[in-house]
Amino acid sequence: MSDTPQDALDALTVEEKASLTSGADFWTTKAIPRAGVPSIMLTDGPHGLRKQTGASDHLGLASSVPATCFPPAAALGSAFDPALAERVGVALGVESAIEDVAVILGPGINIKRSPLCGRNFEYVSEDPVLAGVVGAGLVRGIQSQGVGASLKHFAANNQEHDRMRASSDVDPRPLREIYLRGFERVVKDAQPWTVMCSYNRINGVYASEDPWLLTRVLREEWGFEGLVVSDWGAVNDRVAALAAGLDLEMPYSGGQTDRQIVAAVADGTLSGDALDTAAARMLALVGKAQRRPAVRGPLDVDAHHALAREVAGRSIVLLKNDEVGGAPLLPLAEDATVAVIGEFARTPRYQGGGSSHITPTRVDAALDALTAACGERISFAQGFAFDPAIPADEAAALRDEAVALAASRDVAVVFLGLTEAEESEGFDREHIDLPAAQLAVVDAVLAANPRTIVVLSNGSVVALPFADRAPAIVEAWLLGQAGGSATADVLLGAVNPSARLAETIPLRIEDTPAYGNFPGSFGHVRYGEGILVGYRWYDARRMPVAYPFGHGLSYTTFSYGEAAVSVRPDGDLSVTVPVTNTGARDGREVVQVYAAPVSSIVERAPRELKAFASVEIAAGETVTVELVVRRADLAYWDVRVDRFVVEGGRYRIEVGASSRDIRSTAEVAIEGDEVRLPLTPESSVADVLAHPVAGPIVQERFAAMRESADGAMDAGIMADEAIAKMMASFPIGRLAAFPGMGVDREQVAQLIALANAPQE
Ligand code: BGC
Repeated sequence: MSDTPQDALDALTVEEKASLTSGADFWTTKAIPRAGVPSIMLTDGPHGLRKQTGASDHLGLASSVPATCFPPAAALGSAFDPALAERVGVALGVESAIEDVAVILGPGINIKRSPLCGRNFEYVSEDPVLAGVVGAGLVRGIQSQGVGASLKHFAANNQEHDRMRASSDVDPRPLREIYLRGFERVVKDAQPWTVMCSYNRINGVYASEDPWLLTRVLREEWGFEGLVVSDWGAVNDRVAALAAGLDLEMPYSGGQTDRQIVAAVADGTLSGDALDTAAARMLALVGKAQRRPAVRGPLDVDAHHALAREVAGRSIVLLKNDEVGGAPLLPLAEDATVAVIGEFARTPRYQGGGSSHITPTRVDAALDALTAACGERISFAQGFAFDPAIPADEAAALRDEAVALAASRDVAVVFLGLTEAEESEGFDREHIDLPAAQLAVVDAVLAANPRTIVVLSNGSVVALPFADRAPAIVEAWLLGQAGGSATADVLLGAVNPSARLAETIPLRIEDTPAYGNFPGSFGHVRYGEGILVGYRWYDARRMPVAYPFGHGLSYTTFSYGEAAVSVRPDGDLSVTVPVTNTGARDGREVVQVYAAPVSSIVERAPRELKAFASVEIAAGETVTVELVVRRADLAYWDVRVDRFVVEGGRYRIEVGASSRDIRSTAEVAIEGDEVRLPLTPESSVADVLAHPVAGPIVQERFAAMRESADGAMDAGIMADEAIAKMMASFPIGRLAAFPGMGVDREQVAQLIALANAPQE
């Protein structure tokens, strides 16, 4: 390519520029040999490389080169650890570089609005701070290897149903505070090389052709410097898309939409500058890819498999571990005979269906790992078949065999889960229940042997009707190719579990925030729950849940001291808390900081996650954990001024081991951002009283009125608390219409002029 970016651009014809901004085929961009511009490859993602060398598709159908399948985001998010995510990112970058892939299509950080979303396994959390922090870790890691990330799917793509057309109808506050916040964090903290716009519409406008989303918010407000690529096939109107800020259409359009661009520039419907901008961004992306240091294979398959195992171990959530006969069931006793039950132990489900489907370098099954470690103490019964249509007598025979085995062993470990047919990209679930055949098996096994542990394989939460009866439950998500051995590590105690729920496990689908508003109809889905997504909803309604956000047990125990909070000079909060490992094993505690203003002028969730840290603490030791709450994360989106505003006043800072296990609470006073709205005759009495200039003047006048005989009645009105409350919403322009108020039009006009006069 030419020496300077401008030279490179100037060297291209309009046709060449247009051709640069759409794909050459399924996974690559177009080369312009004359100008020395090479083609680059962008491919899936997100938790492993899916590079297809034969047939191409975006549904995960045809095979791809073998790559390490790391734990999908649902699992990785549960580790609550951006440093771990970064290490996974580095490995993804290395594998991409070896395969000469310029951009890997991930991470996906859409909010898990409903447990029904078919793609929740690919997303991090129901919380935007957690999703953003983990997403930024992945991007940093990938890009440290000279490979680009693609932050997806931007934005408000929270369901699969009708995903290529439906409009996510979201109010400004939830859009900003919940659905865009994680993206904002990743863009600001990690500058992904690319952002992938989503298929759906947002409030009626396709994400792919929304100038507000792709240019005003993403670039002008957040400072995004990279390239916007479409999701595969997301472009509805290429000319409108390019004008809105979409730089690269993927996969390819057979040249047709390139010709539309050329024609639009010729007839002036599209400015030449807009095309230049998109082409320049493509050249910049190609340039970055070219600068990647040469990486030579072969891939160290063993090292990456070992990392996948470590990460999987860090992603397993121990939901419950009750004592049976004086000791917790887990880790398994060293001499216990164990009945391993359930097809998932032998045939692991370790990744989701669709475009993220990876051809793994190898796959570990929990049954093999347990047998390798424990030998003859392990015996297996299938328990159930994946196929729900098997004849009833065969199902009964499998169940009976499992029950007999469970009854004859010290402990039973039952592996339950969802099959790929039940959970994938492209469609949503219709319920959150495990298959009936599996529930029948676990019930029967529990009746035969109360020392029963349940291990779950699922990409998104399932209802746990046996939760009260099963003494131990392990949420093992979809854990990637080494999930089986990592599960054995946790069951046997080689790994002390430390992951936490990045999404609430509800009792019933009917309790979930989007219930009744998901997945919408006739091309629209209303985000009626507003800001109350995930735990915010259950907490605001004080609803019981099966397991709360942030929950997860360990084989050791931790106690918390008093939390201390202070405001740093930069406005962020510093939170410190001593945490002691009070058990006999080394372990990791995920310390969580939640915050909320004590009182607010807008609706607030009772608590919101603002910071967290996964900390290693040796048995018997105390670590003083220091966490930083960003001031920006305390802000709400103020629709009056169209920006984030930190409200002044006292904030409750809760430090705990889960959203419902708060161990220490502190309060801190925070200075608010100034929001000065011009007063008008439509401003209310409350607006006036809160106004920095008009407020004190009016207060003074009330005080004077109270003292004067003439004003006794008026003063009486405002002195009476109930009446003052009633008057609060009274527009000041209309006060003069009421005799005896002691206010005339002239005075109101004067007050407004004074309040709105420019300040020195
Ligand atoms: C998915 C993207 C994926 C792309 C390419 C689309 O269907 O939504 O996440 O990166 O296909 O496979």
